[in-house]
Amino acid sequence: MTTDNTITKAVTILREGGLVAFPTETVYGLGADACNEAAIRRIFQAKERPYDHPLIVHIAHLEQMKDWARDIPPAAMRLAHAFWPGPLTLILKKQPHVLDIVTGGQPTIGLRIPRHPVAQVLLHAFGGGVAAPSANRFTHISPTTAADVQEELHERVDLILDGGACEVGLESTIIDMTGEHPVILRPGMITPQALENVLGKQVVYAKPHQSEIRTPGMHHLHYAPTTHTSLIAVSEIPAFAQALTEAAAPVAVMIRSHLAIVPSDKIKWIKMPVEAAAYAHDLYHTLRALDNQPFKQIVIEAVPETAEWDAVRDRLFKASAKR
Ligand code: TXA
Ligand code: MG
Repeated sequence: MTTDNTITKAVTILREGGLVAFPTETVYGLGADACNEAAIRRIFQAKERPYDHPLIVHIAHLEQMKDWARDIPPAAMRLAHAFWPGPLTLILKKQPHVLDIVTGGQPTIGLRIPRHPVAQVLLHAFGGGVAAPSANRFTHISPTTAADVQEELHERVDLILDGGACEVGLESTIIDMTGEHPVILRPGMITPQALENVLGKQVVYAKPHQSEIRTPGMHHLHYAPTTHTSLIAVSEIPAFAQALTEAAAPVAVMIRSHLAIVPSDKIKWIKMPVEAAAYAHDLYHTLRALDNQPFKQIVIEAVPETAEWDAVRDRLFKASAKR
């Protein structure tokens, strides 16, 4: 439970350069005062994350944008008005004072106003920007509950604010608004179509080679369970189940096509939601739970190729990438 007292404590910790994990509607963040270099350094140490990977700065309201970003294009303001507070991160030109450790030495900054009520209360009470990556160790699955954060970071975090299970369950859509054309650096549950509807122009995904360096979220080593994980088409499931040997079992199969389930003593069937939003909500939680059980492998039924599944497909691709 998050009381007024806990928020006061959280603000004190942030002011003193400590780390506070807090819920957002996407995933839990590991927060520090974005103006305190030593505090930000602790984030990287806690996550074991390379220092050149930039952090998103979380703010409470639109008036704070100009404290962090300059030359904000009108199109970016339209997105901010349409989607904030919410699961969208805007990449903008940074103000000169913004610390290099926050931006990875880049001339740009990622900004987001989250809509989770606990994040809102915390950010309003703190008053400044809170730099926060997802509250997991580098290459691990992002946490979607307070217990997940505890499992990831233990005593490396000074306080964990418990705001229940995250509503969206996948990280925010990141859109770069610094160039001539808007470019999505990381797919999220806000789709290109939704962004296009507001902008009145086409929005494209970054080509992987363009974004690999700038956005570690694009890196294949992200979001990976330690259990061997692979994707499979629904049409291949019967043959897979048939061919499964005693030595390769037990296997967890995350399946959306519930009619494709066949009886097998070697398989635990995990029924996944049919809708994209509900699937996204459950995905990390399910992967984390399965990874903590003694399965020899996790097999995931591939999801549709449509735009509403882009973010889920992106995370499934990363979860099943070879280490
Ligand atoms: O939903 C989210 O975005 C969550 C919650 C806590 O807000 N945060 C999150 O942070 O996913 P993190 O650090 O795990 O991922 C942030 C991504 C990274 O891939 C980083 O490279 C990218 O944002 N990023 C941050 N600042 C950037 C910048 N100036 N230019 C390009 N990419 C940037
Ligand atoms: Mg992350």
